[in-house]
Amino acid sequence: MKHYGQQAGLFCLNRGWKFIEKDFSVLPATRNHDDIYGFAKGGACKGPADTSFDDSEWEVVELPHDWVTKKEFVETGSPNQGYKERGVGWYRLRIGLEEEDREKQILLEFEGMSADAEIYVNGTILKRNYSGYNSFCVDMTDMANFGVVPNTIAIRVNASAWEGWWYEGAGIYRNVWLLKKSAVHIGYRGVYIKPEKQKENQWKLGLHVELENSFEWPKEVEIQHTIMAPDGTVVAEVKQEKIEVKGFEHKTVSTETMIDNPLLWDIENPNLYEVKTEIFYDGERKDFQKHSTGFRTIELRAEDGFWLNGKNIKLKGFCNHQDHAGVGVAVSYNLQQFRVKKLKELGANAYRCAHNPDPAILEICDREGMLVMEENRTFSSSKDTLEEMKGIVKNARNHPCVVLYSVFNEEPLQGTRKGHQMAGQLQAAVKEVDDQRPVLGAFNGGYMEEEGAATILDAVGINYNPKRYDDFHEKYPNIPLMGSETASAFMVRGEYQTDHSSNVIDDYDSECALWGTTVRDTWRYVNERPFVAGSFVWTGFDYRGEPTPFEWPSVGTFFGTYDSCGFEKEACYLYKAFWKEEKMVHLVSPWTDEKMIGQKIPVMITTNCEEVRVYVNEKLLEEGRPDPYDQIMFKIPCERGILKVEGLQNGQVVAIDQQKTASQKAKIVIEPVETSIKTGGHDVAILNVKVIDKEGIVVPTADDLLQIKVENGVVIGTGNGNPNSHEPDVAPYRKAFHGLAQFIIKPEQDSEKPLSIKVFAEGLEEAEVQIKLKKVEEIPYVKAIQERIVEGWKLYYELFDKMPDAKMKTDRNDMNSFEPVTFTGQPQPELSGKLNQYAMYRTQYDFGQEEQGRNLYFTDIKGHVWIYMDGEEVMNRTDGFGGEIILPLQETFSGKHEITVIVYNGNREYPEAGICNQVLLTKK
Ligand code: GAL
Repeated sequence: MKHYGQQAGLFCLNRGWKFIEKDFSVLPATRNHDDIYGFAKGGACKGPADTSFDDSEWEVVELPHDWVTKKEFVETGSPNQGYKERGVGWYRLRIGLEEEDREKQILLEFEGMSADAEIYVNGTILKRNYSGYNSFCVDMTDMANFGVVPNTIAIRVNASAWEGWWYEGAGIYRNVWLLKKSAVHIGYRGVYIKPEKQKENQWKLGLHVELENSFEWPKEVEIQHTIMAPDGTVVAEVKQEKIEVKGFEHKTVSTETMIDNPLLWDIENPNLYEVKTEIFYDGERKDFQKHSTGFRTIELRAEDGFWLNGKNIKLKGFCNHQDHAGVGVAVSYNLQQFRVKKLKELGANAYRCAHNPDPAILEICDREGMLVMEENRTFSSSKDTLEEMKGIVKNARNHPCVVLYSVFNEEPLQGTRKGHQMAGQLQAAVKEVDDQRPVLGAFNGGYMEEEGAATILDAVGINYNPKRYDDFHEKYPNIPLMGSETASAFMVRGEYQTDHSSNVIDDYDSECALWGTTVRDTWRYVNERPFVAGSFVWTGFDYRGEPTPFEWPSVGTFFGTYDSCGFEKEACYLYKAFWKEEKMVHLVSPWTDEKMIGQKIPVMITTNCEEVRVYVNEKLLEEGRPDPYDQIMFKIPCERGILKVEGLQNGQVVAIDQQKTASQKAKIVIEPVETSIKTGGHDVAILNVKVIDKEGIVVPTADDLLQIKVENGVVIGTGNGNPNSHEPDVAPYRKAFHGLAQFIIKPEQDSEKPLSIKVFAEGLEEAEVQIKLKKVEEIPYVKAIQERIVEGWKLYYELFDKMPDAKMKTDRNDMNSFEPVTFTGQPQPELSGKLNQYAMYRTQYDFGQEEQGRNLYFTDIKGHVWIYMDGEEVMNRTDGFGGEIILPLQETFSGKHEITVIVYNGNREYPEAGICNQVLLTKK
């Protein structure tokens, strides 16, 4: 849990949501005139959107939440979505706002939901969002309740269709935030920091702020920007005074400052500066936002590719979807960070968010020094999509890691006039908010067409088909080019023999998709062509769905360089050989498996050394000079003992790798990725579990059922990297696959005690580990409220001199005898100061299951009071004057009832009577 950019008035809304996978209508249940009339008004949506809806049976969930993970794999499911059914679900959350929030802008920020969402606040629809990937905000200022009156946020998430052809999960799978902003404030994504190099060692920093006033009162504000170097020293301060902001005005205010000799942001040293933007008025600081920025230059050239800070570098990238083993798309920040670091370990310097934007990745890559291609999901030039594109770019433009925007992936219209137009419009939308990064499309054809999108975009990405790089460059020598998607090679971790009949492909880089190339060929094509800016390999990690080249029972993909848990496949060592400076050598073989003894086994050596020597039990058996791309392969008779390879440079041994036959499996080891993690909803514990022999060698055939016991935490996902496994994703057990499995644990909310974990299996020595929990409460949570509001109160249009009849009937189509009332802390104006008069209030309320045994709680009701349920008096208060009334309901009370309340103002000392504030149902 991390908000991307600190700011004033920020609260986390990840806890206390009620959830159900089921659909409901927001229309009234009946078609009576009064129901329909009432519904057709603001704030009157029914079903779960209704503030008084009964959600007592729903599950309580914490975000991020992907409801698909708990479902079973079914053959009738879609292969693309990983053979799990999706559908429609509802979420509800009730929160309170303080009295002092009344003059604030109240904003809900959603980082992403899968897929289409309708967001209702206090019975009114405030937003319809049609993408599972974009981040957006909902301004609920005008609909907000304060003080004792809760706010009900209800969200219908429709994941029954699909936007992509891969696993997309379902639900509120990223963070949700509440922002309470001063009347005049900085807008959502409203700070744009624009570093521009002027001359050697001198940079201009453009500072643009969107100011908004949510209320009618004009203000004169002052803006202050403070720029801090990575070590915290202030390097510049800029003030802008006397800025008039009119009532309800939105405007952008710009300034700039010069920064001399800043530390540059680059891949090795991702130096981040911080810009704090503050707003002052009425004598105090009212709002601030903090953002990172980085000083770096980028250039994409047709003749020699990508340049960072004046240095030509090849983009060594991976494409990735956003899911991880066990947890689906509900990937916490530190799990995503773990994945980026794993890619970096291979020498990767670039990441393509395929095929959708991902805000967490930008934050992480800024810090890890990874260049990012941020991608748009929908190819269209509709107004909605262009706005969405601008939103994506506004989210990305302050991140130095972002170096490219992709406006589409493999669109059938890419080579046509229509595609040209649409790409042109999308590119213009990008440039309108960020003119500092090149825009491209990822083509799978149509790039040679002059009327297509290739001739309007800044650059062209070719997916696969590397043989066409030369043709394209020859025809369009002035258009920069890169391999926006490459490889699509198949492999399964730990498998050394392909068996198509059981959906298994070996880990020797021996197969790829028809349209793809092996890992080795891919790099040759890219590396040998200076005009190809780089390669984005499909993919860094295995993902769910798209089990190419197979279907059921395969439920996950075979494309990953790492498996779905982040365990190394052998391709990792090919990338290390190609991309890392450091000399390395690695054996690819099933040597450790004692069943191989006596057989001649293929041994591939991945290395960046000039020469290799292979020894079996210290006897030199083979030697050779590997091809820098194809590498080198030997057939070696397998015997018990040690297989060793030496890598030599100028005749000197510079790297060694060895494998030893594993003996009987003996015990379990747990290797936590981090031994200390943050609680408070921030981190998850990632535990890699291995089955080893007595010497610590992973037993490659081990497939034991590993069981886990956790204290002070809960298992939220498990995996083992087997694309053919149908074991549950969320369970306290998992079989090892080639000796390895992974458990992902969420620590208990704010636990003081460490996470205590034990993993055991029949016949193996068990393992235990403790993970320290660090308490950090960077961002406060808003507590969910369980009280429900009894709504729909109306007041009879005139007052009575005599006690009225509480059983008075009105016609169904009578919309006027009773008028809707609002509660403001005072009796309604029509009652004020009217002595010796009776007023009659009424509501129809459906008491659900949850109400049984609750109190009907009148938070503030003044005067003498009589309360009737379906015309029968249930209580009165004729001796006091005011305050609360608590009416206990019977245990069995439920269903729809008419509540009538009569108030009488007969006391000269207290000349006010009426229902002054909300009526709630509270727990006894
Ligand atoms: C590409 C596509 C990717 C993935 C890949 C598999 O055509 O852009 O999303 O499907 O093929 O090889």
